[in-house]
This record gives sequence, C-alpha cells and structure tokens, in this order.
Amino acid sequence: MKKLEVFGVAKLKGQIRISGSKNASLPILAATLLSDKKISLTNLPKVKDIETMILLLRSLGSSIKDNKKNIFINNNKQTKTFASYNLVKTMRAGILVLGPLLAKFGKAKVSLPGGCAIGSRPVDIHLQALSKLGVKYKIIQGYVHANAPKGLVGANIKFPKISVGATENLIIAACLARGKTTLSNCAIEPEIKDLVNFLIKMGCSIKWTGNRTVKINGVNSLSEIKYKVMPDRIEAGTYLIAAALMEGSLKIVGMDPKIINTEINILKKVGSKIIKKKNEILIQGSKKIKNINIKTSPYPGFPTDLQAQMMVLLCKANKKSFIREEIFENRFMHVAELNRMGAKISINGNKATIEGNIKFEAAELMATDLRASVSLILAALASKGKSIINRIYHLDRGYENIEKKLKKIGAKIRRIN
Ligand code: EPZ
Repeated sequence: MKKLEVFGVAKLKGQIRISGSKNASLPILAATLLSDKKISLTNLPKVKDIETMILLLRSLGSSIKDNKKNIFINNNKQTKTFASYNLVKTMRAGILVLGPLLAKFGKAKVSLPGGCAIGSRPVDIHLQALSKLGVKYKIIQGYVHANAPKGLVGANIKFPKISVGATENLIIAACLARGKTTLSNCAIEPEIKDLVNFLIKMGCSIKWTGNRTVKINGVNSLSEIKYKVMPDRIEAGTYLIAAALMEGSLKIVGMDPKIINTEINILKKVGSKIIKKKNEILIQGSKKIKNINIKTSPYPGFPTDLQAQMMVLLCKANKKSFIREEIFENRFMHVAELNRMGAKISINGNKATIEGNIKFEAAELMATDLRASVSLILAALASKGKSIINRIYHLDRGYENIEKKLKKIGAKIRRIN
C-alpha cells in the first residue's frame, strides 16, 4: 500500500499551476452520454475519479480515446444503460449517468452510490426530481431501476434542499426532455456553471434566470464540440491555505480569483497578504495567523471541501476558532489524526472547537477521505520531523501530481511503498 513520507517544517516558495477541476469534469463526462456526435475534452485532471468515470462510460459502450492532452469521446454506438456497483461504489458521482441515460434511452439501471467516510450520500433528491420529469423508478438490491416509458417531459421543479449532484443530474436530463423545465433552489457552484457552458456549446438550450433558477428547453439534436474544463478551485484553495499555514509565498497560476473570492477574503482576514491578477493569485502567508469562526455552506459560501484544510490552518491561529460543518454529517474524520499530531480540536455535533497556538508533531497517520488526506499533508508540512501518511489512494482520487507540485515549491515529500 503506497504511503507518503513528509519532512517538515517546509518553507514554501514558488509557483503552482492549477489542474482541471475534478468536480466539473465528472458531470461533463456524464453529460457526453446525451450526444451521438464527436466530443473532445481537454484539461481533465489526471486523477483516479476521472479514470473511474471513463471506465464507467466505456462500460456503457462509449468509445473513448486519450492522447494525454485531450480525450475524444464518441457515443454514436453507445447503447448500454447498466452502471455497475463495482464502478459506482468507489466514485459516487457515477450516479450522474442516470439523468443522461434516461434522457437518451428512457431507461437505466444504475447502482446506488452507497455511503462514504463523510456521509451516507443519499440520492433521494435526484430521484424525486427525476420522477417529476416522468421517470418511474424502483430500488431493487441496491440498484435504481428507472424507466420513462413516454420519454422525459419538462416540468417545474423546486429542489427541497440545495444539492450539487441533483442539480447536475436534472439539468442534464432536462436537455432532451420534451418541452420546458424550470429548476429552482439549484446549487450554483462554478462547476455547475461550467457544465451548463459545456451543454450550451453542445447545442442545449439553457438559461440561468437568477436566484438559483435555471430554465431548460428540450432539444432534439446536438453538435460536435471541443471543450476545455475549468480549473480546480478546491485545489487552488488548498495551496492558498498551505501558503497561509507555512508563511509561504506562492503564485497560483491558471485560476480566476473571482471564483474563490470567499476563500481569499477569509485568508486575508486571518492575516495573509493576497494580490489578485487576471488569471493568477499571489499570496504571502503571515507569521501571525488570526483566529476566525467559519461555517461551510453551498456556493458562494465557504466550501465544505476546504473545511479540513482550514482546520489545520486555524490550529496555528493566535486564539481559539470554531468551524461548523453544515453540509455533510460526518466530515470530521481528520480531527482524530490531527489531535494525534498535537492539535486540540473538540467536536460537539457539527461544531468543531479548534485551540490555537498548536505546535504540530510529526507522526504516522491514516488518510480517511480525499480532503482529510490533504489536510494531513498540510499538518505534516508544519510539523518538525518525518510524518508518514497511509492509505493515500484517497488522495489520488482528486489531487493531480500533488507531490511534484509541492516538491517544486520546497516541500520534502515522497511516495514510498
Ligand atoms: C458534490 O457532492 C461534490 N462532489 C462534493 O465534493 C462536495 O463536497 C459537495 O458537492 C458539496 O459541495 C462532486 O461534485 C463530484 P450534494 P454531492 O448533493 O453532489 C445531501 C470532493 O471532495 N443530499 O450537494 O454528492 C447530502 O447528503 C467531494 O470533491 C441528500 O440528502 O453533494 C449532503 O449532506 C466530496 N439527498 C448535502 O445534501 C440527495 O439526493 C449536499 O450534497 C443529494 C444530496
């Protein structure tokens, strides 16, 4: 089992180029199932979840060629509508093939994603909303058996709760439904905007009408498309927090600062100096880190995917801080490991109390989920001595070349068996 060996304390200085967004690439890959025309995608991150989604599409009959820079997809011979458990269980975004398969074939048998370390990951909002488009479904032995015998018919749907995946599934499905669909109380993450830009470029008729509402007119045909996926704002936020933690000075290249304004403002509040340019962000971490209270919330709020990383930073703040995790029911798996490194974090329900002025100690650690694993790397970089991080397959799901990027800016980090 691969591990990471990290020697702290690191001085971080230099430039990092941000990779393509995992969470934009996954719904865009699923949406390619709508089309019978040639599609070429570029800037997909080379991470495990993208490999798994490509395997899933191939298992459905997609023809996919990869020349390292681009991937070329052709679904003109794609006919299968069965998405198996062994692919969906490791990558919950597999449920995003449900909408396009129903839109194109009127039927699908897709494995329920099942839970993960951070929560039970239900898909009830996806299914209830799809039934409003005319889908009938049954859950049998862990699979969604769904049919739309008369095809999908447009409808007005208000999501009971903001859900990124349900918003994406329904936008994709409605693109080929007969008539108009209005979706309200949508998630409006930048990755969803990127998905919509991709769909519009492919010939879909979609319009954001403000206040978390989007209108979709079903179309009958789509066109060939070349598309570049947006950069990964969670990767960018992770490296910004690394600079804030280590008093580092970094230039984050290939990221529009507007997309991560909330995170940038929070890092300025804790004392980092940040300069925003057209497509790059300069950050100088400060010696003194000020405490701050945060709650995670849907975009444009503070993202749950940066909560673990932020917690590490607040361990070094001058006073106590609080973080409330409002999105997932179990997203504090990193706390026990951080406390083994000398952190003093206590949990009460969805609220974490983080003591400041912590001196992290190097230790042998265990990663539990994607974002928790990167928070352990940050803490290891801030600890004197050698840390070992186990189960880094979690990390490889969503961070492209992380050791290479960190080594380039001064970290002593390597992968060992
Ligand atoms: C997406 O997950 C992201 N994944 C997650 O990133 C991210 O943390 C999350 O959105 C929130 O921003 C991808 O984009 C591939 P949700 P998703 O539906 O779509 C509940 C990462 O680290 N819910 O917005 O699954 C759900 O349990 C990953 O890159 C229902 O109750 O998130 C959660 O509490 C982790 N019923 C909340 O809503 C449903 O049908 C938000 O979930 C769907 C969701």
